[in-house]
Amino acid sequence: MIVAQITDLHIVNEGDLLWDGWDSASALTKAVARLNGLKPRPDFLVVTGDLIDTGEAEAYRHLKALLAPLTMPIGLIPGNHDGRDNLRGLGLGQAYDPSAAPFCQFATALGPLRLIGLDTLEEGAAHGTLCQQRLDWFEQRLAEDTATPTIVALHHPPFDSGIASMDGLGLKEGRARFVELVERAPNVVRILCGHQHRPIVTMVGGAVVSLCSSTTVQIPFDLGPKLPTPLRPEPPTLQLHLWQSGHLVSHTLYIDEF
Ligand SMILES: [Fe+2]
Repeated sequence: MIVAQITDLHIVNEGDLLWDGWDSASALTKAVARLNGLKPRPDFLVVTGDLIDTGEAEAYRHLKALLAPLTMPIGLIPGNHDGRDNLRGLGLGQAYDPSAAPFCQFATALGPLRLIGLDTLEEGAAHGTLCQQRLDWFEQRLAEDTATPTIVALHHPPFDSGIASMDGLGLKEGRARFVELVERAPNVVRILCGHQHRPIVTMVGGAVVSLCSSTTVQIPFDLGPKLPTPLRPEPPTLQLHLWQSGHLVSHTLYIDEF
């Protein structure tokens, strides 16, 4: 079982460029081609938020067209740049659990694994939230299967990385209970996040948390309080999480050829 991950696509309307000139559409097209060309092909692709940049319907239509060539099933969770209604309206990939509505959350079996996607979007804000409804739903999903190795995906990392400018926009509400729930669920084998546009690893609640770089543009490494500019053309990556001899083993692949 191979679960691929890409994140922070920041797709804009067709023909537009992102921020100071980044071509997020071409970057995603390259990522899709790389994923389709992998042998063996990943069994599932999880996209951990900031799917589009402005939350508008036209950018989502563009996103859908760019993802159409993918030859594997996908699951999408929202980040702080997303719009819940427009995302849901796409009807793309793994269906969201109606019992979690209005939030875009899902739980799905993936062969020997289980994947739970959480929605940390706080509309109108850059930081993340897991409110009581979202955490109650998460608690119920963990309780209904305490044996299957489980991956949890959420956009906002549930820890501070030391990059102060991004930590200020982190998972502010619900973090303590999230960590407590993970601590009580030893079958959580990994937490997958995005948001910081950098590859980062730590442990939370006894589980490894890993962040994937953006498909488009990375935030420079800087521990200061101000978001460093300009953003950098560091190599975009995707990650492959392999269930291998009872371990979730993660490989970072560069999307471009070097
Ligand atoms: Fe982002």
